[in-house]
Amino acid sequence: MITPPDHALLHWYDRHRRTLPWRAEGGRTPDPYHVWLSEIMLQQTTVTAVIPYYQKFLALFPTVQALAAAPQEQVLAAWAGLGYYARARNLHACAQAVVARGGFPAQVAELKTLPGIGVYTAAAIAAIAFGVPVVPVDGNVERITARLFDEHTPLPGARKVLARLAEGLNAGAQAQARPSDFAQALFDLGAGLCTPRTPACALCPWQQSCAGYAAGTAASLPRKMSKVARPVRYGVHFFVVDAAGQVLLRRRPDTGLLASMTEIPGTAWQATPWPEAEALATAPARAQWHGAGTVRHVFTHFSLEITVLAARVVRFANTEVSQGFLLPMARLEGAALPSVMRKCVAMGMQGLSEHEAALSG
Ligand code: ADE
Repeated sequence: MITPPDHALLHWYDRHRRTLPWRAEGGRTPDPYHVWLSEIMLQQTTVTAVIPYYQKFLALFPTVQALAAAPQEQVLAAWAGLGYYARARNLHACAQAVVARGGFPAQVAELKTLPGIGVYTAAAIAAIAFGVPVVPVDGNVERITARLFDEHTPLPGARKVLARLAEGLNAGAQAQARPSDFAQALFDLGAGLCTPRTPACALCPWQQSCAGYAAGTAASLPRKMSKVARPVRYGVHFFVVDAAGQVLLRRRPDTGLLASMTEIPGTAWQATPWPEAEALATAPARAQWHGAGTVRHVFTHFSLEITVLAARVVRFANTEVSQGFLLPMARLEGAALPSVMRKCVAMGMQGLSEHEAALSG
């Protein structure tokens, strides 16, 4: 097996590396807390989306001890909008485990035993924060490897083969001496040149050793199995506000999708649309309900279509509030509302004000 020259990639990285808030500059060792936090946030999300959340987290929780000691509600609220909320709960649990054991472990095997840290994240932390010579294999590295070796087996089946091929990329002496830079150089190559649709092969430090480039197949790799269409699920949610400007909310169950997050009350999410009368029978308050619109949101395994009904009441009955809790509108921003619920709230508010403007106009 040919190995592409590690020194060529590192030389390119020394000139073109991105400046990112979790990166240590000029050969300094980064803080493992910063590396871990950024890696958890970067799973399934882009660098651009992550940066403001990363900065907010460090401002709120400057150390792993501060994060471990924070109430779960505050951690979920700071995470709200990033998606995949199990990661936020694991993040909190992991911070507590790290504090309990007196710091982050430096080895891949021990890192993998912590909540929310899988094979990729363990390798990324070990390489970047502790200089362990391992190659973390994320989507970027899979793509680079499929092209370098002109591997045509489609994903996800090709994952094992690509991981084995990627393992050998750091065999050279310079990669062994600079594991942190080598891992991050692969990420930057994948983000900057070896991009999914139109790779900039003309600028690539590995062009000479790339079998995909030589065969003219690079841009089409890695191949992917065609995805089955996502099923659609339907729900109806109720946005209701009282004369004091308080919104009726509830907490979702502690298990399952969006566990423990805050939502406006609603029906279950089912495979067929809800007949209006059936949905209204589950309304959380006696009120005059108005259709505010439909919110669409895509989750990993299904798409969701939520009909939002909106209403205003003078005050809530005690029995209505006992199922959830009230929050002043102005505090919604800081609540642990997932993105789909933020969309529902925005639509409910807009629907209500349009309805009221029509009445008064
Ligand atoms: N993607 C995953 N980890 C990353 C990192 N540390 N820097 C840039 N992109 C990444």
